[in-house]
Amino acid sequence: MNIKVDLSTSGITSDIRALLAEDAKVAKEKLWSGKEDFTGWVSLPSSLCGSKADVPFKIETCPEGYDLMEELEDMKRTAEEIRGKCDLLVVVGIGGSYMGAKCVIDALAEEIAAKAETTGQNFPEVIFAGCNMSAAFHRDVIKKMREKETCLCVISKSGGTTEPLAAFSILKEEMDAKYGSDATSRIYAITDKSKGRLREEADEAGYKTFIVPDNIGGRYSVLTPVGLLPIAVAGIDIDALIEGAKDLAEEFGQAGSQADKQTDSKADSLTNYAISRVALSKSGKWIEIFEYFHPELDFFGEWLKQLFGESEGKEGKGIFPASLMFSRDLHSMGQFIQQGKQMFFETMIIIEDRGEDITIPDSVGAPLAGKTLEQINDCAIKGVAAAHTKAGVPVIKIILPKMDAYNMGQLIYFFEMTCGIAAYISGVNPFDQPGVEAYKAEMKAEIDALQ
Ligand code: PA5
Repeated sequence: MNIKVDLSTSGITSDIRALLAEDAKVAKEKLWSGKEDFTGWVSLPSSLCGSKADVPFKIETCPEGYDLMEELEDMKRTAEEIRGKCDLLVVVGIGGSYMGAKCVIDALAEEIAAKAETTGQNFPEVIFAGCNMSAAFHRDVIKKMREKETCLCVISKSGGTTEPLAAFSILKEEMDAKYGSDATSRIYAITDKSKGRLREEADEAGYKTFIVPDNIGGRYSVLTPVGLLPIAVAGIDIDALIEGAKDLAEEFGQAGSQADKQTDSKADSLTNYAISRVALSKSGKWIEIFEYFHPELDFFGEWLKQLFGESEGKEGKGIFPASLMFSRDLHSMGQFIQQGKQMFFETMIIIEDRGEDITIPDSVGAPLAGKTLEQINDCAIKGVAAAHTKAGVPVIKIILPKMDAYNMGQLIYFFEMTCGIAAYISGVNPFDQPGVEAYKAEMKAEIDALQ
């Protein structure tokens, strides 16, 4: 595992962690048993790599005749086809059906730009729609569609979610108006293999489709076609992304299959982080603030909020996930963290190698002259950690060597696994979202009542 976890200022000692070690072991075994619903993502990266490693189980719920490796190759071919004919890919989806793809594409924007420059390839802009019902927002999407060669990809596992369905029907009309009968060959659908309104519509219209595996839920689906197709279209090396996740999964899975004690291996540090989060929440720190010092991780913060919020927040339990971008938010929420009501802990996501740096000119004078931006950023990281620790705020650091597709794959898997383990330790099911259904029912009643 490339990721380092620094728990030295978390306030949670190894003695405290030992109290939850048995619960964590049980959680780990449950996740890796292959018997729990919606745990297909656990071994998915290994299955996608065709790995022969001794992982406890492989994804087993592929529908008959469905070959994961073939699906992956088909996705790559399709991504190339989309790149060949479009400058714009509009992805319609909400929640887990778009957040993973967006956070990866945003985080790796610099890698995409560099690849475009060195290879001369043109990677389509990937934008997302159907995640809000703002007319202004969608007018803007339509404007872009009219200006550029466009493909449309609609993603819904259930195939019946109101917001993406409404947006898709509008954007599909745009496609029909612009491309006539050719529109069909520019529309892609990612949904359940056989059921749901979108599956019916896609089959009837003859759209190219990809399947969301049965046993993988929305927020754990970024390494299925849900995330991989848009990510591949954007120009990111999806093999490297999967490889990163696979390496972490297998290291962790193997450690997990032997684990009956807490050791100091890096894979154990994932478990230690999961345990520390739960221990902190039990001590009254029921808000976790994810913090990053690089704006390209902004949407990764959104993805984390979805992953943890929808997985842990139920039965009156859970850690409320928040996210802040520093230095920006030091000049707003920084005040609250330092002196406000203490009910939170911080999880900083730190990237070590930030690529090419920029030197600050002499004209600014001492002490900044001649220093680089990232040197100042480092001072901010250290300064914030020191100031907040002095104020009694527990600070955890998750350190990534660099931001590339491989490490992003590791980071995604790291947090998915942490979330699964922590939720099971807390006694909640990480894979359902009954609370989301409540708003859907109320909204549906409002829609039905519209004239
Ligand atoms: O994590 C989840 O399961 C949810 O956030 C879903 O992804 C979201 O509700 C969208 O569902 P669907 O893909 O069925 O439209």
